[in-house]
Amino acid sequence: MVELKRKIMVSKRKSLPKDRFFENIEDELALTFDDVRLRTGFSEVMPDAVDITTFFSRNVPLQIPFVSAAMDTVTEHQMAIAMAKAGGLGIIHRNLTPEMQAKEVARVKYHLNGKITEPICVNETITISELLQLKEQKGYTFHTFPVLNQKRQLVGVLTETDFDCCIDPSRLAREVMSTNLVTSHPRTTVQAAYDRMIQERKKVLPLVNKQGHLTGLYIFSDVRRIVTESSAHYNVDDNGQLRVGAAIGVNDFERVEKLLDKRVDVVVIDTAHADTKPVIDTLKQLKKRYTSLDVVVGNISEKESARRLLDAGADGIKIGQGPGSICTTRIVAGVGTPQVTAVYWCARVADEYKVPVCADGGLRNSGDIPIAIGAGAHSLMMGNMFAGTNEAPGEIVFLEGKQWKGYRGMGSEGAMQQHAASRERYRTGKSLLVPEGVEGLTPYKGPLATVISTNIGGLRIGMGYVGAATIEELRAKGNFQRITNAGINESHPHDVRIVKDAPNYKR
Ligand code: XMP
Repeated sequence: MVELKRKIMVSKRKSLPKDRFFENIEDELALTFDDVRLRTGFSEVMPDAVDITTFFSRNVPLQIPFVSAAMDTVTEHQMAIAMAKAGGLGIIHRNLTPEMQAKEVARVKYHLNGKITEPICVNETITISELLQLKEQKGYTFHTFPVLNQKRQLVGVLTETDFDCCIDPSRLAREVMSTNLVTSHPRTTVQAAYDRMIQERKKVLPLVNKQGHLTGLYIFSDVRRIVTESSAHYNVDDNGQLRVGAAIGVNDFERVEKLLDKRVDVVVIDTAHADTKPVIDTLKQLKKRYTSLDVVVGNISEKESARRLLDAGADGIKIGQGPGSICTTRIVAGVGTPQVTAVYWCARVADEYKVPVCADGGLRNSGDIPIAIGAGAHSLMMGNMFAGTNEAPGEIVFLEGKQWKGYRGMGSEGAMQQHAASRERYRTGKSLLVPEGVEGLTPYKGPLATVISTNIGGLRIGMGYVGAATIEELRAKGNFQRITNAGINESHPHDVRIVKDAPNYKR
């Protein structure tokens, strides 16, 4: 398994080449993706050799810098599983009851059986025939059952071999079980479990505390799958379970309890404007109550807002007010900073606190990804890019001879009418329901993995041009040039009739 660096690699912020570019225009001009291009530089970097690992928040690493948006047409468990398997992260949306959202989280966490945290155990006095009946009734497809005594201490394990070799099903579990166990302590990581199982030639590794009680279980086939090559790029926690995040609202403490119960990795206080007292108070409360929980907060677009959230303890901040493809905030409310400028200034402040920044929304082409990172982002949250894939919720729709999937703003009229969480995100009630988003269709895109690999390709190539071997280097070396409309027109294919669509280009 690729070892991710635990510490975010931001050293004390030095002045960077891009600083002068942004400082010179600070009072007059805010720029977005199509306004700029990255400058190329001397490069010894081969695109296929760049390191694109990064962080979403202080303690939540990413193997690739992509996060799927907390939207009801983007991220439920299927998307979050596919994102984590691709090395990224999915944030489960909150237009769900706390129970439903926690269930979605659990589906992600238990998708790979890394550490089995609540193994199905049997009492030593159960007979094999009773156990076989139970297996049948409950539909258990596995064959490994830890066996406990009356004091609920682990005394043995029933394995497939024990079942196969038992010719008298009236025998008790304690007479048939294997007792030559190798156990380990409760905090054993998936990698340590793998090493131990290889060393001891054991297919089961129960985790036992000082009182002899079982606290978890590793099964070799699961552990091997997680640790060895085929899943080396998965984004997994120390237990070998896929990482997942969940969106929460203001004062949403009951929801947080339920999410933590299912071992959510990070919560995102998910609002359209995070620089408000209720959001900051919620953040402070969360950091006080749950010291080891990472809390990301968004969205904002001003450096002073970033500082207030960081001073309140944010483990990550999310930038973007109005850049999203389904957003109408800038048009309806007349506010919001174009995204490249917003990311730059917020990241500049966040660097002082060594806290990662996520650029949320507005990315249309793979070239926007190195631009966002060059401006200072550690990760990118995307909705539209991932909506329309197989893994996004919703069915394929046929219209005008093409395939589509529904994609709507969390502040669209439909989402707001249906869900209190959407109304709360945009600080409106039923009496003042002002949509800040639209409902639409996005072209059907097939498997998420294809979309991700196309976009990772663009990022890698971009890093090669800039001469940046890591995300941190791209953040430091990224330097910009402003371009005009003529420049953007020149950048797109021109004076040709395209006869074959490129897999990574659309206009
Ligand atoms: P993209 O461009 O990837 O943007 O589709 C996704 C991000 O847009 C935000 N979002 C909204 N913003 N009104 C808004 O102003 C909305 O209805 C809305 N819904 C989502 C959100 O931050 C998401 O990650």
